[in-house]
Amino acid sequence: MLVSEETFKKDVLSKIPPRDESPLPPDWLRTEMLERFRVLQFASIREEMNVLEIGCGAHALTTVPLAYLVGETGRVVAVDRSRWRFFDDITTVAGLKRRIIPLKLDARELPFPFKAFDLAVLVHGIRSLKNEETMIKVISEMLRIADRVFIAESLPVANNERQEAHLKLYNLREEIFEALFGEKDDLHYPTLGKLTELVEKAGGNVIESGTFEPDLPHYLAYIPRKYVERVKDEDKRAELLKRWDRAYGKWKRGTEHPPVGWLLIELPSPPLGAGRSAGR
Ligand SMILES: C[S@@+](CC[C@H](N)C(=O)[O-])C[C@H]1O[C@@H](n2cnc3c(N)ncnc32)[C@H](O)[C@@H]1O
Repeated sequence: MLVSEETFKKDVLSKIPPRDESPLPPDWLRTEMLERFRVLQFASIREEMNVLEIGCGAHALTTVPLAYLVGETGRVVAVDRSRWRFFDDITTVAGLKRRIIPLKLDARELPFPFKAFDLAVLVHGIRSLKNEETMIKVISEMLRIADRVFIAESLPVANNERQEAHLKLYNLREEIFEALFGEKDDLHYPTLGKLTELVEKAGGNVIESGTFEPDLPHYLAYIPRKYVERVKDEDKRAELLKRWDRAYGKWKRGTEHPPVGWLLIELPSPPLGAGRSAGR
């Protein structure tokens, strides 16, 4: 569906109410959805498509622009294993709830026996898949049940001070989660080369790939200081608090989305003649 950004803003973003979650600005949810809309321009989405989204998250940041782009007769099956808190409210207020089927499950085992989707997408979600084994398993599951797979993730690259400020605060998250819960989350961003390697290990062929600058502020590296204060190990807590103070000071002055890497992938075509039985 060829939709201009202005139309998306008017039809959808204007319906998303401001949020009161200081120090994030009231329009942070709209800004993030606009970034996802820009990312999805590279995913070759058409009206009427049946799309699977992995790791939709509590705020439906990618789900909303996806559901808009597939149109009235398209479908988005949105999968997440745990985070659903605001999902229903946000998709309802955006007027897109009827196009979306939410499914709470672990994407390492998808309950579809055969190819059931035109496209499967994983946008800003690979970093939450905890480890390489899970990343490869999830990508291979997506390839098994969709004709094409689209993966996009921020890159560990800063082309200006605001992107650097984002990366400095963001890069603390992996360590903070590990110190608090004994398990990493929000892993450091992968390079495009690393993403390609994961895709190949999952058996996929990269059809097209690229990078682009979202050119938008990005607030989601923020993690409240009070969480860091709960780290039990005294030395680790002191060290993390020092780094958090420094990183937050820069982040407050301005923060921007780093460049995003994206890949469109498919399973390799079977060799000619494969699947025919002998003698026919
Ligand atoms: C960074 S968040 C949301 C990303 C969202 N697509 C966006 O555009 O910002 C990634 C999500 O992946 C989910 N997730 C992590 N591992 C998963 C798994 N094995 N199966 C399904 N969802 C998973 C997490 O619960 C989290 O909500």
